[in-house]
Amino acid sequence: MRKLVIAISMLALAASAAFADPILDRQGLMKERGKIAGGLAKVVKGEEPFDAAAVLTQLQALQANAEKFDADVLFPAGSDTGDTTAAPKIWEDMAGFKSTEDKYLADIKAATATAPADIDTLKTQFDAITSNCGTCHKTYRVKKS
Ligand code: HEC
Repeated sequence: MRKLVIAISMLALAASAAFADPILDRQGLMKERGKIAGGLAKVVKGEEPFDAAAVLTQLQALQANAEKFDADVLFPAGSDTGDTTAAPKIWEDMAGFKSTEDKYLADIKAATATAPADIDTLKTQFDAITSNCGTCHKTYRVKKS
């Protein structure tokens, strides 16, 4: 009987996860972030030619991605377990986590507002933007075991 109750409650959990999966949503958002940043990194490294209009489009895409980040929706209480590398620290220090993302968004906004006209300007801005990735991951992410 006890086993049956556990089985049923696990089914219920699985069903609710199918309707809204904040873990998959936030990982999808991060994957997109990685893809856009990867494209800009190629320009910064000189692997792709600097094209001011194309760069601005990519920076705007990065901004749109960051603006979609809603910690309350993507990191609700209880979403710290499962197939996730989100660290418990997020829920212990939600204010700090949010302000780390705010800083990241502010750095992107500064870059889109300037619309870098040369690679050196882009490089400085891109370094500032991407330093936030490492800062946040170091504090708020755990290595997958
Ligand atoms: C405010 C914090 C924060 C910032 C800023 C941030 N990330 Fe993340 N990132 C996370 C967290 C938390 C996870 C773990 C999500 C999970 O597994 O539930 C993650 C996961 C990822 C993943 C793995 C996604 C997957 O498929 O599991 C990639 C790729 C990634 N981030 C790229 C980036 C890049 C690139 C940047 C900067 C341009 C960035 N992130 C900035 C918090 C952040």
